[in-house]
Amino acid sequence: MKENETRDSVLAVLESRRGGYVSGEALAQELKLSRTAVWKAIEALRGKGYRIRASSRRGYCLDGDNDLLSPQGIRPFLAASAQQYAERIHCFPVLASTNRAAKEMALSGAGHGTVLLADSQTEGRGRYARAFFSPPGGLYMSLILKSGELPFEEKTLVTALAAYGVCGAVEAVCGLQPGIKWVNDILLDGKKICGILTEAVTDFESGCVDWIVVGIGMNIHAREADFPSDLRGKAASIDPGFVHSGIRNHLAGEIINRILGEGACQRKETILEEYRKRLIMLGRRGTVSLAAESFEATAVDVDGEGRLLVRKENGEIRALSYGEFRMGQPKG
Ligand code: BTN
Repeated sequence: MKENETRDSVLAVLESRRGGYVSGEALAQELKLSRTAVWKAIEALRGKGYRIRASSRRGYCLDGDNDLLSPQGIRPFLAASAQQYAERIHCFPVLASTNRAAKEMALSGAGHGTVLLADSQTEGRGRYARAFFSPPGGLYMSLILKSGELPFEEKTLVTALAAYGVCGAVEAVCGLQPGIKWVNDILLDGKKICGILTEAVTDFESGCVDWIVVGIGMNIHAREADFPSDLRGKAASIDPGFVHSGIRNHLAGEIINRILGEGACQRKETILEEYRKRLIMLGRRGTVSLAAESFEATAVDVDGEGRLLVRKENGEIRALSYGEFRMGQPKG
């Protein structure tokens, strides 16, 4: 086994028993390694920033607070329905943009369910090519979905599927109940904790949308003062007080479960029902801004394609597939 492979297999065992001790002998036996090779792998992992305690009687223990992203760290959180994607998870210390890298990988033949994660991004992007604040320690991930493998015909529903996945994961891991601001923002107490950017990758020759890349960017521990001034008061993190440490692998696993695992078996009505339940703007009046017009309207529903249905002052119903809906006062 090469040194990297040895290190990764030792990490896989430690991650599967995170917070608990495993003896050097058991590690060596399980992985068919010498005790020296195990010790070298532990040192290599420490060099990468893993906090591993060692006790002569009990062996090695990966600190439960470790928050380094890795496929080995995510795997224990994958449900049986998503285990098949474990080998398709790739983690990087830094990427320009996980969406950009995922689009390139899709074009070079990466399979459905390939997932890219980065500890930080230097050129993270959001809708309308806006910069997405991506310092180290957040969760930046992109999933490659093959059009033919989606649980529904409508590709426009992928953002709703992702929002459903993110909200369910945040609830499962942190016990919080986020809301959705159509179409792609996840909020807590009115502040954005996560943005979703869904992009189509078209095959040049056939002109068909063969792949969809869904990018998710979540603020994890950043505090108000850590955000650039233009985001202060508008953005927040899911855990600024570090109440839940070591949660990024868990969150990533739960998101993958919901988008690729159980999510792939859901009926679209179930996903839309969950999406609607969390949508914060239903029944609220607001200003719709489209490329060429803006008008006042009340958000009334989301249709089967994930479009926001709004009622204009004159009673006309419009179905919005893009644009912004800025909320005003609750309907009185
Ligand atoms: C938005 O708020 O407009 C969407 C933000 C999406 C950000 C994520 S971070 C991971 C992926 N890579 C990117 O460059 N963008 C998405």
